Amino acid sequence: MKKISVCGKGGSGKSVIAALLANGMRERGYRVLVVDSDESNPGLYRMLGLKKRPDPLLGLVGGKKNVFRTFSEESDPSKNILTQEEIRTADLPRQYIVETDGIRLVCIGKVLQSLEGCACPMGALSREFLKRLCLQEDEVAIVDMEAGIEHFGRGVETSIDSVLIVVEPSFDSLELAEKINTLAAAEVGMDNTWTILNKVMSEEITLKLRDELERKSMAVIGSIGYDPDVFQSCLEGRPLHSNKAEKDFEKVLDQLL
Ligand SMILES: Nc1ncnc2c1ncn2[C@@H]1O[C@H](COP(=O)(O)OP(=O)(O)OP(=O)(O)O)[C@@H](O)[C@H]1O
Ligand SMILES: [Mg+2]
Repeated sequence: MKKISVCGKGGSGKSVIAALLANGMRERGYRVLVVDSDESNPGLYRMLGLKKRPDPLLGLVGGKKNVFRTFSEESDPSKNILTQEEIRTADLPRQYIVETDGIRLVCIGKVLQSLEGCACPMGALSREFLKRLCLQEDEVAIVDMEAGIEHFGRGVETSIDSVLIVVEPSFDSLELAEKINTLAAAEVGMDNTWTILNKVMSEEITLKLRDELERKSMAVIGSIGYDPDVFQSCLEGRPLHSNKAEKDFEKVLDQLL
């Protein structure tokens, strides 16, 4: 359970859940590495209580156009740290990793200009980085995935151990969760694929959604209620702190660990 990915529909709360997971794992004694694999997460560093964003790893390969060439067989591992067989977080140059109180963040890449082309190179870089990322006994990596399912097509999950699928109370989110569940179970196995409910307004809705997901053979690891403190932190770009959400999340951590 060393590399955990958080995926789901756009806006369902992937980054919020990734931040709750990062804080919770840190509280339980793990050194946490958050991998921002989504180019639409400009505020993730703030949610995690970090002062600044790291430079995207894409810079280490000379931009999107060089990703495939960098990982081609002819490339020389002594020339680029990202092509080493094993990458330890300590090996990364300082501008590519930021840290506070046991939580570190790396970022794969961001779209910088229009007409840059598709996001495939970023998916490839995520996949290669996660494959080579070598974690110590007390380290975990939490990957905040891009919305939707394309990352499965790009093989980003090939070295992931567990997948958390965030489900908000909407038809679209439930439909997408079913697709993701099938793809994730094929990569990491049924036992390591969970759904987590988020932004749920009442116990009644939790029960209804839990019922529906379980009827479709999806395991539900927990439910995080709609929380005005979380909403407010996200609105103001503040570190995510909420007693209620953290308490809801304790049960998720108990099961996950
Ligand atoms: N438990 C919660 N309670 C209240 N509001 C929440 C909760 N979780 C998420 N939100 C709201 O939903 C918004 C989207 O959350 P978040 O940024 O985590 O989603 P995301 O899935 O990462 O989005 P994206 O696909 O854009 O990366 C937040 O800005 C916040 O307003
Ligand atoms: Mg996000």
